[in-house]
Amino acid sequence: MLTDASSRVVSRRHFVTRASSTALLGGLAGCDRTNASAELQVVPPAYGARSALAEPGPMLPPVPAVLVTANGRAGDPDEISVLWSFVVNGDPPQIGVSAGDEHVIGALIELHGAFVLNVPTADLVERFDTVDMNSSRVADKFALAGFTRGRASSVDAPTVEEAPIHLECRVIDRLRVPPARTIYIAEVVATTALAGAVDQSGRLLVSDVPFFGMTAGSGEHWTMGREVGHIGMTVGRDDIKY
Ligand SMILES: Cc1cc2nc3c(=O)[nH]c(=O)nc-3n(C[C@H](O)[C@H](O)[C@H](O)COP(=O)(O)O)c2cc1C
Repeated sequence: MLTDASSRVVSRRHFVTRASSTALLGGLAGCDRTNASAELQVVPPAYGARSALAEPGPMLPPVPAVLVTANGRAGDPDEISVLWSFVVNGDPPQIGVSAGDEHVIGALIELHGAFVLNVPTADLVERFDTVDMNSSRVADKFALAGFTRGRASSVDAPTVEEAPIHLECRVIDRLRVPPARTIYIAEVVATTALAGAVDQSGRLLVSDVPFFGMTAGSGEHWTMGREVGHIGMTVGRDDIKY
């Protein structure tokens, strides 16, 4: 639930059960965050015929680029890794990460039940790649990548201080996925942000901060480009963050 300017409790989503062009246009006319007509002027590429690729793949461009940090075992360095990750729910705030059995971090998430998703920016992309292309079995990846270790405020886990956003997470469930993965579902118990990454209401300032995503399907890192719309634009809502 959210509270609007007049302190009235409003539901996060107002779902329209019957669509009409009048509702659509009325909704767009009510949006003043960006120019709604400009939002819709995205020219579709000139595609050819659809065909099946030689290999099926999870081609979902973009997916979040996040650095996952967790405590190491006693006497070992803290762990930092790159995992496929996703939003499970906005309210309550829940996320998921996918850990491969061959990697170090899954057993540590299992052991400690807590981790942090550190959201990096494009200026950190080489250090990000150093983390995902090296193993903690041969080096302390914090030192190797040149990241500064911090401590989370609400969970027992390390952080990457250079990342402007930290999602402090506590594991609430897990799912074994064949042949050799565990998906950890976690509650985001605290979200912290550097000043300048969010506005006073806690809304992410995407245009000011060069976040990037991984394009599953091309293996590249891309920044956000331009805004082409927002959640709720067709029903006149511009207050939805998640
Ligand atoms: C694009 C990309 C995605 C990755 N996704 C995952 C993942 O979802 N789960 C995982 O356990 N490791 C994933 N990795 C590997 C980890 O980043 C891992 O930390 C790194 O390869 C070293 O592993 P180790 O320290 O566990 O030996 C990914 C690596 C890349 C390059």
